[in-house]
Amino acid sequence: MKAKLESLKALFDAEIKKVSSPTDLDELEIKFLGRKAGELTAVLRGLKNLPEDQRKEIGNFANQLRGEIENAITEIRNQLSGSQKIDRFFDLTLPGTELPNGHLHLMTKAIREITEIFERIGFNRVRYPEVEWDWYAFEALNMPGDHPARDEWETFFIDDKEIGPKGKRLLTPHTSSGQVREMERKELPIRMTNISKCYRRQSDISHAPMFHQFEGLMIDTDVTIAHLKGVLDYFAKQFFGPNRTARIRPYHFQFTEPSFEVDISCGLCEGKGCRMCKSGWLEIGGAGMVHPNVLKAGKIDPKKYSGFAFGWGVERCYLMKPGLSIPDIRELYQSDLRFLKQF
Ligand code: DAH
Repeated sequence: MKAKLESLKALFDAEIKKVSSPTDLDELEIKFLGRKAGELTAVLRGLKNLPEDQRKEIGNFANQLRGEIENAITEIRNQLSGSQKIDRFFDLTLPGTELPNGHLHLMTKAIREITEIFERIGFNRVRYPEVEWDWYAFEALNMPGDHPARDEWETFFIDDKEIGPKGKRLLTPHTSSGQVREMERKELPIRMTNISKCYRRQSDISHAPMFHQFEGLMIDTDVTIAHLKGVLDYFAKQFFGPNRTARIRPYHFQFTEPSFEVDISCGLCEGKGCRMCKSGWLEIGGAGMVHPNVLKAGKIDPKKYSGFAFGWGVERCYLMKPGLSIPDIRELYQSDLRFLKQF
């Protein structure tokens, strides 16, 4: 055994002289010290089979040899890496390569901003499925299967073989589908903002098939139109600027009664009427007092509770912000960095 170790030592001494690159050195290290097939490793493993009187002496010798081999390898490795550094000239005075600086997508920023504005008055952001049941998107919102109002939503339906108790599946065409879901999930009172992707069969400069909407819903005892108007004015000032305000105009939606369209005063003429806005007001979305049938669908007693809701497109209200000029809403989703970098 001792003779074997001595010949290993001689072999190592001869081979290390031939090493000229880090790869050679790695190979040598594996050959002698490798965990699986290293030659010295095999000897060290065999020590336990030796008779006791030899084990100590040979063991010491073998461990000493391992130490020598390890030191020699480390030394050569340092030499090799040292010489390589000197070969490669590195000019510290050269200017560095600038890393590209990213930022959030305009819509991500918009969603965060809207979320924060409503959080300050106690509305929590929730999210509900984008692939939704007909029940939540239409039926529970007071639009039975054959109701003509459904046509306004230009919905993508999913071609399911079997239709469940909640009707067909579809890509949600508006965030109002979160209203009854929230009523089912949460104890009263409710104050939610539901911001989500929505889908409709539409595509032109002011419509994209995938877009974002955001929905506000408040339900409690004694909620009135005055509360709705207060919240809309608050939003107008926080989002568009302190001199802006909101107004509501009578309108019709199936899921609210009474229903309104919401306008924001024009930033240029402050409601007087100018060349930009004509009437002084810019239309932003819909709102109203939650219809008793919708409350009932959410298992809430309309005699005890009332609520308001409002909803509109995130893209649209962001494009109404002063200082942004986006010629085509679809550009937002083309992932063209030359366009997106501007914002
Ligand atoms: N869901 C409506 C749409 O997509 C917008 C809307 C109107 C939301 C009235 C509401 C509401 O909450 O009360 O056009």
